[in-house]
Formats: sequence, C-alpha cells, structure tokens
Amino acid sequence: MTESFMGPKTRALLRRGQPYLKGGARYDRVAAASEQAGFRPPRQLIVDRAEGDFLWDLDGQRYIDFQNGWATNPLGNCHPEILEAVQAAQRRYGFHWEHPLRIPVAEHLAALSPGQALPRFSFEVSGTEAVEAAVHAALCHSDRRYIIAFASSFHGEGLGTKLVSAYDSNNYVGLEAWSGGVIRAPFPHSEAIPPNLTLAQYQDYCLWYLEEHIPRYVMAANNIAAVIIEPALAEGGNWVPDPTFLQGVRDICDRRDWLMIADEVLTGVGRTGPMWAVEHSGVIPDIMVVGKHLSGGIEPFAGFSARDDILGDNPRATGGSTFAGTPAGCAAALKTLEIIDRDNVLDHGQSLADLAQEVMSDWTERFQIVSEVRGLGLLIGVSFEVDGYDGVHVARTVRDEMLKRGVWALCDFQPQVRLYPALNMAPDVLRSGLEAMAEAIAAVEQSGPQVGDYPAWPSGNVGF
Ligand SMILES: Cc1ncc(COP(=O)(O)O)c(C=O)c1O
Repeated sequence: MTESFMGPKTRALLRRGQPYLKGGARYDRVAAASEQAGFRPPRQLIVDRAEGDFLWDLDGQRYIDFQNGWATNPLGNCHPEILEAVQAAQRRYGFHWEHPLRIPVAEHLAALSPGQALPRFSFEVSGTEAVEAAVHAALCHSDRRYIIAFASSFHGEGLGTKLVSAYDSNNYVGLEAWSGGVIRAPFPHSEAIPPNLTLAQYQDYCLWYLEEHIPRYVMAANNIAAVIIEPALAEGGNWVPDPTFLQGVRDICDRRDWLMIADEVLTGVGRTGPMWAVEHSGVIPDIMVVGKHLSGGIEPFAGFSARDDILGDNPRATGGSTFAGTPAGCAAALKTLEIIDRDNVLDHGQSLADLAQEVMSDWTERFQIVSEVRGLGLLIGVSFEVDGYDGVHVARTVRDEMLKRGVWALCDFQPQVRLYPALNMAPDVLRSGLEAMAEAIAAVEQSGPQVGDYPAWPSGNVGF
C-alpha cells in the first residue's frame, strides 16, 4: 500500500490549476488547517480513464468506482452502447432543438412515471435547472407564493436551488434578499433527532409541524404552492425515511391542497431499487424531477414530469434553456432506458443491494467508529462517530484509507461515507470494494483518526 494515488502527475496538475480554478487559493489554507487539527486532509484524484466498474487516476492507480460520477452512471463508466448512440445522434443532428428524439423520450417517461400519472415532460439540462423549473411551474399553476422544503435536503447549486436546499444554513448567507418564498421543515433522520425522542416520535412531530405549525404560524395554507421532497436524502447523507413519512407528506398535501414535488434526480432510475424511490411508499407525486442516471453517465440530461393539468397548458411555466434535451442527451436517455429494461438491470441492482447488506450487516458491532450503516437499493451510507472528534474528519480519514486500497467513494461535509455502485456492477467487484472499505475502517480504528504523517497539501475537492 502506498500513497501512489496522490502520485506526482496528480500533484503537478492540481498545483497547475491552483491559480486558475475556483477555490484554488483555498488549497494550502485548508490543508494547513486540517494538519493543525491533527487530520490528514481529504485527498483528490483526477480521472485519467474510466471503464465499467473501474477508473484509473493520472498516476495509473486503479480504483473500484463507488463514486459513480456523483451517482450518474447506472450502467458503469463509458457504456459502449450509450457512447455509440450518443455519437450517432451527434453525427446526425449536431445540435438542434427541433430534433425528433424528444418525443420518444417524453413518451417513455410518461409510460414509466409513477402510476402513469405524470404524462407531461419539460426538458432541462441539469438537475438544478429542472428543480428550479419544477418549482416555478408549481408556483405558476397554483398562483401561490411559497414552497416548503426539508432540512438536510439538497436540490442543486443554482440561485433558486441553493435556497430550496437546506443542508447548511451558511449557504443562505448573502442570499437573504432572495429567500422569501421558501419555508423549511424538519426531516426525520437519525442524526437530527432531539434527545429523548425516538425516530418514530420525531417523524410524527415533523408531520405535525408540516400540517399544523406551518399553516398556523408561518404561512397561510392557501398561499403555499408545493412541498418539495427527496424520497431519500442523498447529498444530505443517504438518509432513508420510513415509507410512512412520504405517505404522511402525500396525505397532508392532499388535505392542504398543496402539490407534492418529488426530487428523484439522484434516487431515480433504479438507484434505490425500483425505477423511482417513491415506489417504496406507493406515493404518486404531482411533479417529479429527474436527471443524473437517466442519460447513462454520458451526457447532461434532466427534466421534470408533471400532471397533465399542471403542464399541459400553463403559459407562465416557461423553462428549458438552449441545451435542454439535446439530441445526444435524448439518445443517451433512450439507450439507457432500453438497456435497463432489456438486461433486467433493476433486478441485478437489487441483488447487489442484498449482497451489500450481507457484507455490511455486522459493521456497527464490528467497528466502534461506525455508528450506522443504511441503504435503500444501492444508495448506501455509513456514518462515523468518535468521541472527541469531528465525525467529518473521521469519515474523510476512512475515505482516504479506502483510496489507498483502490476504492473511490464520496465524503463531503457530513460525517458519512456514501457509496453509489453502478446497478450493473459485477458482484465480486462490489464485494471486494466493500471488503477493502472494511479494512480501511479497521485501519482508522486501530490508528485513530489522528494521523500525522501527511504532507502539507493538497486538500480535498476544493476547486474542482
Ligand atoms: C436530489 C438532487 N436534486 C438536484 C440535484 C442537482 O442536480 P445537478 O447537479 O445535475 O444540477 C442533485 C445533485 O446532486 C441532487 O442530488
């Protein structure tokens, strides 16, 4: 085991980017602060080549890919059939808005939508843009002014989605003048429950807050257009609510005459097992936002589906930018959906999820630093806790140890490592990646999260 994943080529390119890239000036400062706190700063890799379940960094080190292009590759890296479909569309159409592939994509998505109840589709480029367009459509449809969003949720990094997201109050600093239309409600997950409450009791409180507290004390119910919810809180830490929570939200929306917007950008297209994560609770939203997986990790593609009466003839709900629904993006989406259906990819994904559960089932007993392991399909999160330490540093140290062992996973600003294996990953690759993760956790447990042998730079995903 070596530090080769941060080899000379990677270091040199990162250094070269420092003067030019956003956040580049933070590298040394963040690294120094981490070191001063006694932690190794999170390390960064640059992908030189990606194929199937694996990728290679600039220095030639191979990794099992649990990072998955930020959960965008349901069929693994560079799937050849999707590449071919994309290239064929580019060769044939270049870029024109008025190409024929939009219609079969919209048809497919209507047929796949929960309960086949969301026949209309609006093409967008990114998940961020799609969420913003969906919120706008809801405001226009209802002619109301307010949206309810949940704590710990993430909906994107645009001006609107920064405000709708609620995973860190620091994100609103400087944006106060823009945030008047968003009401934030608590979301039941185990890291945020007040002392002396069970998760079930806290969930009841969250539903009561939504239905009673907000209309009574925050905003009149008839001025609230919609509730936006991630069926599982992905960026917030892969938290999986009990199915009764989503059902409760749906019932409240019905009673209060609010639209329910499900943000399935990360959970959709099989990430949690079924095609849509709302299927776990049997809930049918009024609007559903999609992205990421839908185009097989090759081309930007996103959008939102909605009920006929919301989007069929809503002249104020304009949206969709120049590059929304490109020929290449539509071709990628069509091919991805075709392969998922043809190869029973969702069934394979579920068998991988069962395998992951089997391998990880004893981790909370085996490792003192692991406080929780959870998953829904292949949306998997592991939380870390060590008395006297910031859990985020512990998680990052684990992630570093995983990188050393050739496994790439995600760890941002929460005390968790998140895993997003491709839905078609080979079972032995999944198993060996998880076993390497267990070794990494054991190494951190043995040495403690304080590791003083780290050179002064670079820090984590700053600037890329
Ligand atoms: C649930 C959810 N919604 C929206 C977004 C934003 O999507 P994008 O990064 O494609 O703009 C993300 C991104 O991670 C997400 O996880």
